[in-house]
Amino acid sequence: MPSMTLTVEEIRQESTLVRALRLTAPGGAALPAFGPGAHLRVTIPALTEPRCYSLVQLDADAGAFAQPDAYWLGVRREDAGGGGSRFMHTLQVGQTLTVDGPRNDFPLHEAPAGDPPVLLIAGGIGITPIASMAAALTAAGRRYALHLCGRSRDQLAFLPALQTLAGDALHVHADDDADTAFDLAAVLDAAKPEQHLYVCGPKGMIDAVVAGARERGWPEAHVHFELFVTAAAQAGDTAFELELRQSGRTLHIPADKTILEVMEAEGCDPLYDCKRGECGVCQANVLEGEPDHRDYYLSEVEKASGKVIQLCISRARSARLVLDL
Ligand code: FES
Repeated sequence: MPSMTLTVEEIRQESTLVRALRLTAPGGAALPAFGPGAHLRVTIPALTEPRCYSLVQLDADAGAFAQPDAYWLGVRREDAGGGGSRFMHTLQVGQTLTVDGPRNDFPLHEAPAGDPPVLLIAGGIGITPIASMAAALTAAGRRYALHLCGRSRDQLAFLPALQTLAGDALHVHADDDADTAFDLAAVLDAAKPEQHLYVCGPKGMIDAVVAGARERGWPEAHVHFELFVTAAAQAGDTAFELELRQSGRTLHIPADKTILEVMEAEGCDPLYDCKRGECGVCQANVLEGEPDHRDYYLSEVEKASGKVIQLCISRARSARLVLDL
């Protein structure tokens, strides 16, 4: 997908921390079509890795997906983050951005109008791809329930537009209001594994939703999620030695670097794609040592076997890990 230069045409402050950006092509030229769940990869000056932001579509208009005249992004400012969102919050109308995409790793499944209702769950800024799904489902006449969760109601971005879009299908949950606080167990108990479930939000929420759905017999193919974070160090992470047996090399993996990052820095050429533990492209076979699995790709049985590891996000519990690389 070639890069494009887009202009910031409009900026709206959606909440204290979230701003929405309307991007257009030079001269108002047509933009590539996209589907609900798609994102753009935005080049951030001073950062080596682009940042991914979901495309937000809040109108139940199929043409807005097929022939967009603009793209909307929603960006939450993360002051403790790597700098991507801070840059996006400095942008002014008239400035340009270099983007790749749209690309969709979180597509909505196709289904006839009579299919069981789709269950959509969004936490915070995770509403951005979920809102587009609600728009596409509305446009297609398909049933859904949308659970929008946040710390407080005034921090929920796009709320008026979502109320117009989803009507009674929208259920707003605010942690600071006991009457509306999100009860995941009750939502899942009231749903059925025949339904498709889509969740986007903080890692803790996704972990809880995926685990809760699995406990209730949801097939993997019906549970869809997207997590827009890269590997983050966790409290208690320690350094370990990594032996690449085929290459005859041993690398030191510090507590604040991933296996993939160190291998790239050391001139290895590992395969990868998502860098979020979702796609499985970076998987390697484990010969010795105990992996500390942090991915969403492997099943619980595969994780327990300890025979494979996702290099982009998982670590080692043992002081030494030996891979068949
Ligand atoms: S690159 Fe996708 S799981 Fe590691």
